[in-house]
Amino acid sequence: MNPLQLNEFKAQMKEIGLGERGGASVGTTINKEENKGKMIKAEKVGYIYRSKYQQTKALSEVSCSFEQGKVYAITGKSGSGKSTFLSLLAGLDVPTEGNLYIDGKDIREIDRDAYRMKQASVIYQAFHLFPLLTVLENVMFPMQLQHMPKKETKERAQEFLQKVGLPDTLYRKMPNMISGGEQQRVAIARAMAAGGQILLADEPTGNLDSQNERVIVELLCKLAHEENYAVIVVTHNEKVAEAADVVYGMSDGVLEAVRG
Ligand SMILES: Nc1ncnc2c1ncn2[C@@H]1O[C@H](COP(=O)(O)OP(=O)(O)O)[C@@H](O)[C@H]1O
Ligand SMILES: [Mg+2]
Repeated sequence: MNPLQLNEFKAQMKEIGLGERGGASVGTTINKEENKGKMIKAEKVGYIYRSKYQQTKALSEVSCSFEQGKVYAITGKSGSGKSTFLSLLAGLDVPTEGNLYIDGKDIREIDRDAYRMKQASVIYQAFHLFPLLTVLENVMFPMQLQHMPKKETKERAQEFLQKVGLPDTLYRKMPNMISGGEQQRVAIARAMAAGGQILLADEPTGNLDSQNERVIVELLCKLAHEENYAVIVVTHNEKVAEAADVVYGMSDGVLEAVRG
């Protein structure tokens, strides 16, 4: 990879919320016990998009909390505010009203770049893999940014790819040579490689057929229940919601508990 490519990828990583950071084993190890409890708490969160002449109230008085080990679904029609809420949870912006706490700290007061580097990763409908890197290199990339030794990076990337159930015959393929369901698994492995325990997914099955949809939903459940991730999935897909431990419904920027 040449320096130009590297810079381009770094910018792209930042844009998609993976930031400049490494895997869990870089520097500090994540202490799962220590992180237990309500890691995210929203208290009457509101968000208004403002331009010079117009404003749109996208969220109002959203209160809820999220903890590790569970899958949360946020359902609702298009335009109801789901992605806006997810972007606040990802630390891409801060609420215009109310408070959002991460591990008890006000998100306005923490280093949000560090939060996005160390704690939260976003998975998108359109996968957003690096097209010029192989599957394995895509997953190695977040750890390389943190200057983890190459051998370890490779071993850990392979571990993550095994966890998402990707056959090793695909490790050397370019992303456009594997199916959508496989690409989404790689994107999830890359999000895990970034090291945080919060996985935020925006319509992760939106581009998938029903069989791959099931695979991805089962995988997200496994990561929450067996690997202790907090998984927050924004979706308008009922099947995704059925599989979640807790379901919230969003309607015109208002969130209400549906189940769990
Ligand atoms: N960047 C933006 N600027 C202005 N308004 C926006 C922007 N993004 C979303 N909105 C508006 O905020 C509301 C919520 O949008 P969004 O969070 O994208 O909903 P969803 O993800 O549920 O489809 C909608 O009315 C949408 O038009
Ligand atoms: Mg959306």
